[in-house]
Amino acid sequence: MSPDRLKVAVIGAAGYGGGELLRLLLAHPGADVRQAASRRFAGEPVALVHPNLRSLRPLVFCRPEEISPCDVLFLSLPNGESMKSMDRWLKTGTKVVDLGADFRLRRAEDWKQWYESDHQCPDLLDRFVYGIPEINRAAIRSASCVAGPGCEAIASILGLRPLVRHGLVRGGAVVIDAKMGSSAAGARPSDSTHHPERAGAVRSYRPTGHRHTVEISRILEAEGANFSLYVTATAIDMVRGILVTIHVFPDAGAVTEKDVWKAYRAEYGDSPFVRIVKENRGLYRFPEPKILQGTNFCEIGFELENGGRRLVVMSALDNLVKGAAGNAVQCFNLMAGFPETTGLEFPGLHPV
Ligand SMILES: NC(=O)c1ccc[n+]([C@@H]2O[C@H](COP(=O)([O-])OP(=O)(O)OC[C@H]3O[C@@H](n4cnc5c(N)ncnc54)[C@H](OP(=O)(O)O)[C@@H]3O)[C@@H](O)[C@H]2O)c1
Repeated sequence: MSPDRLKVAVIGAAGYGGGELLRLLLAHPGADVRQAASRRFAGEPVALVHPNLRSLRPLVFCRPEEISPCDVLFLSLPNGESMKSMDRWLKTGTKVVDLGADFRLRRAEDWKQWYESDHQCPDLLDRFVYGIPEINRAAIRSASCVAGPGCEAIASILGLRPLVRHGLVRGGAVVIDAKMGSSAAGARPSDSTHHPERAGAVRSYRPTGHRHTVEISRILEAEGANFSLYVTATAIDMVRGILVTIHVFPDAGAVTEKDVWKAYRAEYGDSPFVRIVKENRGLYRFPEPKILQGTNFCEIGFELENGGRRLVVMSALDNLVKGAAGNAVQCFNLMAGFPETTGLEFPGLHPV
C-alpha cells in the first residue's frame, strides 16, 4: 500500500469505538475518511452523535450497505456481528481492521466455548493477524486483515508477556484483577448502564470466567506460558480507562527488580506507546488510567514483595484508545507504511 492518503471507512461509526476511530482518522494526515456508517443515524450528521467532532470536516452517516470500496475498512460492531458479513466486507476493503472479538481467536472451538455460539466463518480465522503492534509488528505490516484485541486483554498481555518471554513467570497461578470504566460496555444503554445503577458503582460484574481469559492465555501459551490464568473484572466509577493489577507468585529469590526492568526494557525499547512507570516520588508513582485519557499509551509499573514471592504488575490504558481505536490506527499506520505514531501523538491532559 502506498503511503499517500488512503480512502478509509468506518462501520459501527455511531458507537464509542467508532467515534474514537473517526476522531483519530479525521485528524490523520494519511487518511481520507470517505464514509461512516450507522443504521440508526443514517442521513444525520456525525456531530449529532459525536459532538466533539463538530469542527472537523462535515460528515453524514450512511447505511452500512452504502459503504463503497475503500483502501481500509474499519469495523466496530458488537461481538458476533462482523462475522455475519465478513465475506462482503473483505470485498469492500482492500484491507480490513475489525475491533470486535470475532476474529481474535485462532480456533473456532475457543469461540464456541467462550462466546457460546458457533463461529460463522471459521475458514476466515487464519486470515486475521492479532492486532497488538508491540507483539506482532512485522505480521501487521504485511497483513490484509487485523483483529483488534480486547481492552483488558491488551493491558494484560502487554504487562505479562515480557515476564513470560524472560522466564520470570513459570507454573502456578497468575491472577489478573481488572477495573473497568463504563465506556467499555459500549454506547447501547442497558439496565446495568443506567446512570442511577452505574454511577458510584464498584460492581464485581465478572469475578470469574471473563471471556478475555482465553485471548490472553492463547497469546501467552504461544510464548511457553504454563501457568493457570484467572481474570476478575470490576466495573468502577470512571467513564474511560482500565487498570489491570496482575499478581504473579514467583519462587522466593527467583525474580529481582533488575530482572523485571530488563525484561520490559528489552521488549518495549522500540515501542513508542508503552511506558514503564515506577517512580519514587510524586502523586503518579504507578500507572493511572485517569491521566491516559484520550492517549494511545499503555503504562506499566510493578513492585516486588516478600523477598520476591509476589510480583504485582499494574497496566493502565484508555480502553477506547490504546484499548480499541488508537491501537487500530497504530495497526493502520503499520499496514499503510506510515510512521507508527502518526495521528496518535496526543499526550493527554492534566488535570483531568
Ligand atoms: N468499548 C470498548 O472499550 C472496546 C474496547 C476494545 C474493543 N471493543 C470492541 O469494539 C466493538 C465495538 O464496541 P463499542 O463499545 O464501540 O460498541 P457500541 O458503542 O455498542 O457500538 C457498536 C455500533 O455498531 C453498530 N451496529 C450494531 N450492529 C450492527 C450491524 N449488524 N451492522 C452494522 N452496524 C451495527 C451500532 O450502531 P447502529 O445501530 O446505529 O448501526 C453501534 O453504534 C465491540 O466488538 C467491542 O468488543 C470495544
